[in-house]
Amino acid sequence: MSKLADRYQSALVTGASTGLGRAMAEMLLEEGVRVWGTAREPARLPVRTGFTAVALDLDSDASVSAAFAMADRGAGGLDLLVNNAGYGLFGGFAERDFAGWQRQLDAMLVRTLRLSHLALPGMLARNRGAVVNVSSLAAEFPLPFMSGYNVVKSGLAAFSESLMMEVAKTGIIVIDFRPGDYRTGFNQTMQTASEKHLAPELPRAVRQQRAWTVLEANLRTAPPPARAAADLRRALVRHRSGTVRSGTFFQARLAPLLAPLVPQRLRRAVAARYFGCF
Ligand SMILES: NC(=O)c1ccc[n+]([C@@H]2O[C@H](COP(=O)([O-])OP(=O)(O)OC[C@H]3O[C@@H](n4cnc5c(N)ncnc54)[C@H](OP(=O)(O)O)[C@@H]3O)[C@@H](O)[C@H]2O)c1
Repeated sequence: MSKLADRYQSALVTGASTGLGRAMAEMLLEEGVRVWGTAREPARLPVRTGFTAVALDLDSDASVSAAFAMADRGAGGLDLLVNNAGYGLFGGFAERDFAGWQRQLDAMLVRTLRLSHLALPGMLARNRGAVVNVSSLAAEFPLPFMSGYNVVKSGLAAFSESLMMEVAKTGIIVIDFRPGDYRTGFNQTMQTASEKHLAPELPRAVRQQRAWTVLEANLRTAPPPARAAADLRRALVRHRSGTVRSGTFFQARLAPLLAPLVPQRLRRAVAARYFGCF
């Protein structure tokens, strides 16, 4: 199959203003797919033929319903939903306000599920379509001081597995897309989202700072988002439900292959040392 548009005529891509979502939207446009792309502030979205800007704020139920209705109506029934929008929240679980964790789970897990709940009935009725949930390798390798994020991404991965069984033997596929580190503005947004940190003299604050330094270094040297978009394209061409890991050879291939062979306690110790949390 040369062009994805032979299979998918229309797509809703959440979080298309920057980073992975923007690269995925551009890839789909190049393939001839009409894209409805979202941002909280639509002025941040590109102006391109085939692209329609949609306002979506995952902090609001009403915004989710309105964004989906606009895209689905415009497309005459969406063929592809890419649940990509998201953000990180960094800090000790106990030290951050619980409201912040709750807001992250509501936005990135509950309302992301809501978008799939809105999209699937139409896809089932037409017996064609694809749902892509952008989770993360954090579902397999949780990150320190990002407890809410790890929960969201593991939840999305489990949700995708459930859907894969439910849509088996239909014309619909579900992809759990798990990126490793990619060079996007993700960490900048995460840092500014921080509400409060521990006093710097506390040992936990030192460990937190060390972990942040590793996270920053990893993203700075990570591959560009276009690589994730190319991996998604290949998965959509393959048109098979499943988990797709995307990133460097070490993160996306070697580590997932070797990790199950290592006892959990040892894995945790290695991760703690790697992130400076010992
Ligand atoms: N970069 C990585 O290394 C990496 C690794 C694994 C997984 N991921 C996942 O990939 C996805 C995209 O991340 P990225 O790295 O591309 O980050 P990014 O450059 O910061 O882009 C995040 C996108 O999500 C949107 N967004 C953020 N919060 C939102 C909210 N409350 N409501 C609606 N939209 C919101 C942003 O739109 P506006 O701010 O314009 O509204 C933006 O378009 C995320 O789900 C992330 O968890 C990223």
